[in-house]
Amino acid sequence: RSVKAFAPATVANVSCGFDILGFAIDAMGDTVELVLKDEPGLVVVSIDGDGGKLPLEAEKNTCAVAIQAMLDELDSKVGMNIYLTKGLPLGSGMGSSAASAVAALAAANRLLGDPFEKKDLLPFAIAAEKVACGAGHADNVAPSLLGGFVLVRDYHPLDVIKLPVPQGLYCTLLHPHYELKTADSRSVLRDQIPMKHATIQSGNVAGLIAGLYESDFELISRSLRDVIAEPYRAVLLPGFYEVREALKSAGALGMGISGSGPTLFALSRGKETAEAVGEAGKKMFSKIGLEVDVYFSEI
Ligand code: HSE
Repeated sequence: RSVKAFAPATVANVSCGFDILGFAIDAMGDTVELVLKDEPGLVVVSIDGDGGKLPLEAEKNTCAVAIQAMLDELDSKVGMNIYLTKGLPLGSGMGSSAASAVAALAAANRLLGDPFEKKDLLPFAIAAEKVACGAGHADNVAPSLLGGFVLVRDYHPLDVIKLPVPQGLYCTLLHPHYELKTADSRSVLRDQIPMKHATIQSGNVAGLIAGLYESDFELISRSLRDVIAEPYRAVLLPGFYEVREALKSAGALGMGISGSGPTLFALSRGKETAEAVGEAGKKMFSKIGLEVDVYFSEI
């Protein structure tokens, strides 16, 4: 027996929501096919689309780690062959490792007769993120699994809340052609944040969430600001401030680093603005000598 599942790309953090906010981009993602084996053990048979960069060893592969965590919880010795097709570039900030883990879990759950509800798969996906990027953050896996815009209110115990999205809210993604590992872009962050930054950040998270509930685009725009991660990470991203100006001048409500980068995201009201923002970003990136892929989609 075999089962195939797809899981979407995600934008984590969404500026002010470091490790607690994310949304899904349904048009792009990874696909995992699982085939039941007669004997126990997880075998990563093939990975397509990664340029040979991802590990096939089960202890290091995100799909296998996620499925193993699930089998351990079930006390099951079922064996599976794993076939992963990457639709997402590695180290891009678009939740590539999360999409692989979530697709693997969705397929495994179905293969085993749905022993878990969707949201109960999250801890297994977080275990895989820990192996893939050294930190068990849930702001990619939660929206990849549940879809839409998601808040991770707490990790211990997990408390995940789906948020409403105003009609006509679009995301533009600008993906420059270089890799940045999440572990590296987490290593530049500080352990402590000044009280005044905590205050600014909480105000913006609350504002963004109120803006989503109220469909208040102006409030969403004012709230898309990050003072705890972006200032440290921007130094890893050539052209960040120039591109930020270009996106805002083209009408974006706001912008930021998608997850841990190097992809940048912008939110806009309406498709036309989202397209214009993509064009403006591409032009500015090319001025500084970087090629980018541009994607946009309604959230
Ligand atoms: N919240 C995580 C980070 C997302 O910013 O490191 C990584 O995609």
